[in-house]
Amino acid sequence: MPDIFETIMHRCSIRRFEPKQIEETALQQILQAGLYAPCAGGRQGVIFAVCQDKEVNERLGKIKRANSNPRMATATSFVSRERPSIADDPKLTNAFYDAPTVITLFAPKNFLFSVDDCAVAAENMMLAADALGIGSCYIGQGWPAFADPYGQEILRQWNIPADHYAVMQLLLGYAKEGDKHPTPKPRKEGRVIRMGGAAK
Ligand SMILES: Cc1cc2nc3c(=O)[nH]c(=O)nc-3n(C[C@H](O)[C@H](O)[C@H](O)COP(=O)(O)O)c2cc1C
Repeated sequence: MPDIFETIMHRCSIRRFEPKQIEETALQQILQAGLYAPCAGGRQGVIFAVCQDKEVNERLGKIKRANSNPRMATATSFVSRERPSIADDPKLTNAFYDAPTVITLFAPKNFLFSVDDCAVAAENMMLAADALGIGSCYIGQGWPAFADPYGQEILRQWNIPADHYAVMQLLLGYAKEGDKHPTPKPRKEGRVIRMGGAAK
């Protein structure tokens, strides 16, 4: 296992995947990482819906793309040149980028910390995935993927409680073979403020 700091520096969003499915043991470890994330009030309210059905993931990813209106990239403002997002490339019709595993994180509609709970669980899972050699991508705003009759039917099939909503999706899969690991954008200056000066 790599060192935690190596993993943090190495993780990046993967948006081009091999069709090969991830191993079940790796999936179980990634889910454990999510289940052991901190959660507001210790309530453990997040539901992790794992879908490895290619057709379902593709249909939901296309519904999500059709219901998203991202601010499209310009020459100077873009998400990623190496791994274009749907905001960078209008030709991408699947907001889940054909990832073989898509985990939708559901949480209670009337809970103040639902988004926070899903975000910290997702970060734990993305770091676990990276440490296991699996690529991941965080997809914000999970609900548009279910915003049509097909999506509603899937929610019924998955037995998602009516008082929960899809906060986000986590994509998992092996990075496309031959792709260079993305280079992180340089970090913006001035984002850390130290009061009282550094300790001597
Ligand atoms: C809250 C949140 C929402 C995001 N939503 C999307 C998304 O809808 N589609 C996508 O391709 N990437 C999405 N991302 C991934 C970001 O684009 C990515 O983390 C960012 O560009 C930094 O790149 P890195 O992850 O490679 O460090 C999201 C990330 C976060 C934290």
